[in-house]
Amino acid sequence: MGRIGVLVSGQGTNLQALIDAGLPVRAVVSNRSGVPALHRAARAGIESAVFAAGDYGSREERDAVMAAWLEEREVTLVVCAGFMELLRKPFLERFAGRILNTHSAPLPDFPGARPIEDVLAAGVAETAATVHYVDEGTDTGPVIAAERVPVYEDDTAETLRARVQSVEHRLLPRIVRSLAG
Ligand code: GAR
Repeated sequence: MGRIGVLVSGQGTNLQALIDAGLPVRAVVSNRSGVPALHRAARAGIESAVFAAGDYGSREERDAVMAAWLEEREVTLVVCAGFMELLRKPFLERFAGRILNTHSAPLPDFPGARPIEDVLAAGVAETAATVHYVDEGTDTGPVIAAERVPVYEDDTAETLRARVQSVEHRLLPRIVRSLAG
């Protein structure tokens, strides 16, 4: 099986699901320091690094350095798991066709950084956990798999997020396993 690199920004519950599934996560990258996801990587003995956009002259420069760091660690598949920035060309070209993202809503209907809140505001009865390929747009790459999740009338962002994430935590490791080759 290939070597997996995971991009994170926050809690890292999806990173944890990949680790717990026994997948070969060999490197973790965050755009923010001190986040729980980095502690999860450390606890699992996985090498990690922080690449904050503000520390570089441009996002392209940061993304090139980040891609090189992952390549040095022989990563073959990149998983964005709650990574809340768009990737630029230097990164996308380096890992073309080998970058996935998990998104907590159906696509293309609910892209963006606040999909749980957007789904609730739309008043729909059903949402989804979605895994898709990453391109330069906001959650616009081809969908690989989606699993439906009901929305209940009394849902809050917290209750809906918990229900969607429990599905993500099963779906993402399954898809990553099938693509990690
Ligand atoms: C996940 O639910 C993921 O789907 C969502 O952020 C959460 C991160 O949680 N991503 C997006 O909304 C991207 N547009 P985690 O850090 O606990 O894995």
